Amino acid sequence: MRIAIIGAGPAGFYAAEALLKRTDTVIHVDVFDRLPTPYGLVRAGVAPDHPSIKAVTRVFERTAERPNFRFLGNVRLGRDLTVEDLRQHYHQILYAVGNEADRRLGIPGEGVAGCTPATVFIGWYNGHPDYEQAQIDLSVTSVAVVGNGNVAVDAARILLRTPAELEKTDMASHAREALRRSRVREVYLLGRRGPAQAAFTHIELKELGELEGASPVIDPRELADCGSAEALGNTPSDKSLRILQSFAARLPVSGEKKLHLRFLVSPTQVLADAAGRVTGLVLEKNRLEAHPDGTIAALGTGETEILRVGLVLPAIGFAAEEIAGVPYDGRTKVIANENGRVVESVSRSAIANEYVVGWARSGAQGLIGKHKGASAQVVDLMTADGAGLEARALPEPEAIVSLLRGRGVRVVSFSDWKQLDEVEVARGARRGAPRDKVVALGAMLDVLGQA
Ligand SMILES: Cc1cc2nc3c(=O)[nH]c(=O)nc-3n(C[C@H](O)[C@H](O)[C@H](O)COP(=O)(O)OP(=O)(O)OC[C@H]3O[C@@H](n4cnc5c(N)ncnc54)[C@H](O)[C@@H]3O)c2cc1C
Ligand SMILES: NC(=O)c1ccc[n+]([C@@H]2O[C@H](COP(=O)([O-])OP(=O)(O)OC[C@H]3O[C@@H](n4cnc5c(N)ncnc54)[C@H](OP(=O)(O)O)[C@@H]3O)[C@@H](O)[C@H]2O)c1
Repeated sequence: MRIAIIGAGPAGFYAAEALLKRTDTVIHVDVFDRLPTPYGLVRAGVAPDHPSIKAVTRVFERTAERPNFRFLGNVRLGRDLTVEDLRQHYHQILYAVGNEADRRLGIPGEGVAGCTPATVFIGWYNGHPDYEQAQIDLSVTSVAVVGNGNVAVDAARILLRTPAELEKTDMASHAREALRRSRVREVYLLGRRGPAQAAFTHIELKELGELEGASPVIDPRELADCGSAEALGNTPSDKSLRILQSFAARLPVSGEKKLHLRFLVSPTQVLADAAGRVTGLVLEKNRLEAHPDGTIAALGTGETEILRVGLVLPAIGFAAEEIAGVPYDGRTKVIANENGRVVESVSRSAIANEYVVGWARSGAQGLIGKHKGASAQVVDLMTADGAGLEARALPEPEAIVSLLRGRGVRVVSFSDWKQLDEVEVARGARRGAPRDKVVALGAMLDVLGQA
């Protein structure tokens, strides 16, 4: 049985592992990725100052070493390859393409240059080739990060780290250098609901109080007034709430950078000068309303203020990119599916032999470890549906590689990636970092050409 997985992030790798462990039939797995590098957001999303999380790549490496595994990097579905090509060359297809588009605030002024989705900032500091040329203006002194999830926390923390804290990380060199020269002193983390509804986790929140050169600031009245704890029936034992209360009780340390945690505010307009530079953000004060279904919504009160900032980073969630030939659910912004089986967008009828895992299936929620079980569940469906499919004769395994080469694609194998990996690790070792990433696509392919 030959199976194509599109996307070499955690969901794709965990699915490959589950497939290659099957004993009922011999499975060959080809994992495609649009980048020459594997591991998806483990390489390009997880914060550089959280190196232990990236150790999961050792598990994925062991999967890649299995005899029936092939990595075909630098191949983009929808550009280099079509869904029809995949149908011809494989018995089953599994999409694991993540959520690579960002959600928008939908407010006036959002399009100006200084209002940049956090995705761009994160991809830029993590050395994702798409964002190599991104312009992040760190000559400003104040930045607003919109959202109260862990991505917003990552962005805020990285903006406030000292150069020494970043030196030993695998952050892309261009970003380390730019952050070393950064003039940012004040970062505002803006939640539209209250602390009890914040999506960030308490471990990430606690870390904000342990930065070398920055302190968290919360107006105790705002924390007390916001009423969100009562609205949810939370008690002060709630870990995040207790951490926030300890932040609120701190005395400001003079000379330190500040992280202002604000709640119950929604941006309603990005203000910019005639040259298109951000000058501020109009914030509307919110109140909470409990709905009969148990959800708690933020409602604008009409009361506004202007927050003077020079850069706005919305970190308000993600959406799957639309790929030609792959059904898309416009409402949930993921690949149209029923429990991992791909379905037609409108009729919702199942498309035979096509499946989806990871964030492309469920949206951008959840940590890396969650994909192990979730991908294995979809593999169970593939097993149940796939009995006898292997009887269908397919082109030789090399035919897909020849097809791609014929289209001018430089296919990157796993051993190619290992060469690039070695180069990056050796470059990083010179400054005591886990790696120094090669960022530009062309530069990656050059390294492989020379190796
Ligand atoms: C900024 C950030 C920080 C995070 N930090 C943590 C953390 O510290 N700990 C934690 O547990 N979780 C963290 N997460 C969550 C974790 O990264 C995700 O749960 C996980 O990566 C999702 O896995 P995935 O395989 O679905 O998607 P991804 O990891 O996004 O992988 C998708 C892959 O598909 C490829 N692809 C996309 N389109 C195509 C195409 N058309 N053709 C071919 N290939 C394609 C991409 O290049 C990518 O390699 C973080 C997420 C973000 C955004
Ligand atoms: N260190 C880590 O472990 C780590 C790091 C990064 C990411 N991750 C994981 O990756 C996943 C994605 O993280 P995420 O932060 O992108 O998403 P998230 O957890 O869903 O948080 C999104 C945030 O954006 C807010 N938001 C949405 N629309 C908004 C709007 N129009 N205006 C203002 N605020 C808005 C949400 O508020 P509401 O709640 O009010 O909707 C929420 O606070 C999560 O599972 C996260 O835990 C983990």
